[in-house]
Amino acid sequence: MTFMVTTKEVSLPRDCTFSPTDWQALAPFWYPVAFSHEVTATKPYGARLLDERLVIYRVADGSLVVAKDLCLHRGAPLSLGWVEGDRLVCPYHGVQYDRQGKCVCIPAQPEATIPARLKLKTFPVIERYGLVWTRLIDNGEVHLPEMSEWDDPDYLQVLPNAVELNAAAGRQVEGFLDVSHFAFIHAKSFGEQDNPEVPDYAIEQTANGFRADYISTVSNYAHGMKHLAPPDFLWRRLFELYLPFTAKLTVFFPHGKLHVMNAASPISARKTRVFVPICRNFDKDAPLQDTLDFNHQVFAEDKDIVEEQWPEDLPMNLADEVHIAGDKSSITFRKRLAALGLGRSYTA
Ligand code: FES
Ligand code: CO
Repeated sequence: MTFMVTTKEVSLPRDCTFSPTDWQALAPFWYPVAFSHEVTATKPYGARLLDERLVIYRVADGSLVVAKDLCLHRGAPLSLGWVEGDRLVCPYHGVQYDRQGKCVCIPAQPEATIPARLKLKTFPVIERYGLVWTRLIDNGEVHLPEMSEWDDPDYLQVLPNAVELNAAAGRQVEGFLDVSHFAFIHAKSFGEQDNPEVPDYAIEQTANGFRADYISTVSNYAHGMKHLAPPDFLWRRLFELYLPFTAKLTVFFPHGKLHVMNAASPISARKTRVFVPICRNFDKDAPLQDTLDFNHQVFAEDKDIVEEQWPEDLPMNLADEVHIAGDKSSITFRKRLAALGLGRSYTA
């Protein structure tokens, strides 16, 4: 049977690249849409999430507003405007909106009654891990992915540039969870060509996703630094997936822990911006640039292959690709996404 596609009460973005059912399944979750530092006191910031154009701006007390980036007067993007105190000003005819999105001033006719329909749609917003997070459908509590170490003074926090990909978020996240590609795609950074075997590992379902606890002899150090760990050291990598597209990796180094959050923000069905806040409680005085360069190299290696995978969308029907034992994580990932309702218009 095919599932009925219903769009009742939900208005999809214009030119939506997702199926209506996929969009509705994804829209209730939190996604990062900007770095906190990108949203300054005077300049609104334009972003896209699930094909929705968003304007993000900071009002006088420093708090953030996220709204549709569309002036209802004549369709100008408000991200081209500016902020005055608590008000967002449209660049075209100067209409002003308050922090609830309500129009409070039409300069061309100051005495006239303001039409009630001149109101921006606003969205919930949270600032955390140096990022601005929002969700497009507010239909009950959804937890933000957790990385408590970000606020821990024992940890060093690092915020690399975002990674832009012409690829589906699902493909990218699945690649982040994949433990059998290190020896190949990451041969130049940390992968060990003579050590490709994947030991069995445990998966545990959680309320927000699942955890995969992977122990192997593949060192997470870059080539040239591998001597820093004892030769028989067992490397533990704990992946915690927060549906749909955020994963937190904890790597247990000999002298401490490294946490890498892979927060994939779906700009459209096949365009993704990945935010990667990182923290660690060792080597806190090591040059930051080395960490940024290593992270950039690893994500660039993944990008090269993820942008070329076919079909572009993550197959939700398990029979569409062939799986090996090491794919436990990705099989679980696909099953959990399908349980959210993704791929319904596709699966027979
Ligand atoms: Fe925004 Fe006219 S389009 S004020
Ligand atoms: Co990779």
